[in-house]
Amino acid sequence: MAATSQETQSAATDEETSVLKIWGRKPLSGCIPISGAKNSVLAILAGTLLCPKQCRISNVPSLADIGKMCQILRALGVKIERNGDALEIDASHVGSDRAPYELVSKLRASFFAVGPLLARLGSARMPLPGGCAIGARPVDLHVRGLQALGAEVRIEQGVVCADVKGRSGRLKGAKIYLDYPSVGATETLMMAATLAEGETTIYNAAREPEVVDLASFCGAMGAIIHGAGTNTITIVGVPELHTVDYPIVPDRIEAGTFLVAAAITHSELSIAPVVPDHLTPIIAKLREIGPQVVIDAPDTVRLIPSELRATDIETLPYPGFPTDMQAQFSALLTLAEGNSVITETVFENRLRHVAELSRMGADIRVKGQNAIVRGVHGLSGVPVMATDLRAAAALVIAGLAADGMTIVKGLHHLDRGYDNIEQKLRNVGAHLERVKVPTERVDNLADSAEALV
Ligand code: EPZ
Repeated sequence: MAATSQETQSAATDEETSVLKIWGRKPLSGCIPISGAKNSVLAILAGTLLCPKQCRISNVPSLADIGKMCQILRALGVKIERNGDALEIDASHVGSDRAPYELVSKLRASFFAVGPLLARLGSARMPLPGGCAIGARPVDLHVRGLQALGAEVRIEQGVVCADVKGRSGRLKGAKIYLDYPSVGATETLMMAATLAEGETTIYNAAREPEVVDLASFCGAMGAIIHGAGTNTITIVGVPELHTVDYPIVPDRIEAGTFLVAAAITHSELSIAPVVPDHLTPIIAKLREIGPQVVIDAPDTVRLIPSELRATDIETLPYPGFPTDMQAQFSALLTLAEGNSVITETVFENRLRHVAELSRMGADIRVKGQNAIVRGVHGLSGVPVMATDLRAAAALVIAGLAADGMTIVKGLHHLDRGYDNIEQKLRNVGAHLERVKVPTERVDNLADSAEALV
């Protein structure tokens, strides 16, 4: 598959590094196009392993994470071709049940493939993905659920080795209770159960829209799944699935990110296509902070800016406030009138953007799992370092509102989840550009920021 611009753009040479220069306080206007949902595509790509025929998914953004997932599927013997915004996938010959550690360790979501591999081949060898910047990211719920489905699972040298017991070669339907409504565990187990013998029920299942999109994809291949989007999902196993041509749902987190960009720059901005229902907690919180949010059409949302008022945020599983929007709202609340408390309950280390926002002049500090914010009148553009995907988005948002030029480093984080974000923002009036700088100068950009002008 030819690498797309996004996958090559952030791949600067070793002696060069890409950084994003943002000249702040430019008002935005117009409509930003929203791409397909990264977290749907990653789960659905794993789901294509269930299908012994060719299938096609469309509205697929060009993201580094999706490129990595395609590499992992190819290593398993799957043929994948990108054709515009679609991926043509042929998993008719899955030649291997084991994914390479060096790829899985770079993309945690690839672990979800353990379920489809096990269901399709009767065995799977999936390296433990390990932790990442935001947390330890254990997979115990995935493993326990697969064991409930009749798999023998052991961990050998950091690899999850799963085999279907019994001569039938098929998993057995079961009742599974998740201690936590894990998105990934719900997706892994739902996919595994589609080809199991009998009925499976997943209690305390995740309700995220990406889980529903995956269930719709599997259903379009002939799987029998009821209750996706509620906390109890029932799957009746079938012997085989068939081909499908499936469009990916719009990305609610990309959409929310741009709504926050509009609010922080006091811009009237539309976003489309979106599914407004998927944005309910985001829209509710924006309205609490002050802006009006109008649904102009079934797939179009518009923000009308206002002064910003402080509020509190607590991240929770869907339909609670999404953890993937916490960093972006933290940036917004640094400029709101009053004091805000932001509590991150989903991941144990997802407040690392606070230190970088403080560098920009925000009055924000971490206390345990809380970020305590006192609104200030303005932020200053300085060089900042992204520590994870959504922290990178938060720094871009802060840069759009800051006085002067912000330089965002660590763009490989941003490119994991945003398809050409600088072009989308430039098209509505933002002033920003991606430049390559000699790597040895990246760490002392503060002294030579003007050199980048
Ligand atoms: C998915 O990650 C998303 N990634 C994340 O998006 C998102 O933040 C997260 O769901 C929560 O909504 C993809 O879909 C590819 P979880 P996932 O399992 O499935 C604990 C982004 O920015 N847990 O719901 O890994 C876990 O430690 C990314 O786009 C266990 O304890 O999230 C965490 O504290 C970041 N044992 C909590 O559950 C397990 O076996 C939620 O994790 C699994 C999870």
